[in-house]
Amino acid sequence: MSNLPITRAQAIGILKSQNPEEFDLIHYLMSEAVMREVALKLGEDPDYYGMLGLLHDVDWTLTKNDVSSHLTKAPEILRGADFNEEFIENVLSHGYGFPELPELKNKVRNKKIEWVLASSETLTGLVYAYALMREKKITDMEVKGLKKKFRDKTFAAGCRREIIAEIEKAGLTLDELFLCSIEGIKKIKDEIGLA
Ligand SMILES: [Fe+2]
Repeated sequence: MSNLPITRAQAIGILKSQNPEEFDLIHYLMSEAVMREVALKLGEDPDYYGMLGLLHDVDWTLTKNDVSSHLTKAPEILRGADFNEEFIENVLSHGYGFPELPELKNKVRNKKIEWVLASSETLTGLVYAYALMREKKITDMEVKGLKKKFRDKTFAAGCRREIIAEIEKAGLTLDELFLCSIEGIKKIKDEIGLA
């Protein structure tokens, strides 16, 4: 039984009420899909992990013009939706170590769910860029090809590989995470314009 105060539809309602850019909404949905898949693999709660993926950037649309304020509005929004402090801490943890975020830059992730969130949401950027390169096709995407793109640091250069590699601290290999990401995102391909 998930300890969640709102439904998925309500969470999407919160995100859409901010008029997010299509690309950002796609990132939230992909993050949710990967988180669900990893949770199933780890024997964790897919609804909880999925909700965390869906809402991890809940204040992004409101703060993207000043990146240093990213995640400063998230606690208020999430408390307003009755999420507990643990959920909020989990959300904030994906900003740990970012030099752009003064309050979080010296914090270090130290829980399984934190490593899974940071690695999963970061990997979505790489998968999406790779899918676009393959004429938006994800159906026949293979771990092998994705791994090549992971190793090629010039491909989607802004995608931080060292954060993706944090998945190993959560007990999954990179290959297992790559497979989860492909399988998870395949399930929502129609929703996000992939084939
Ligand atoms: Fe994100």
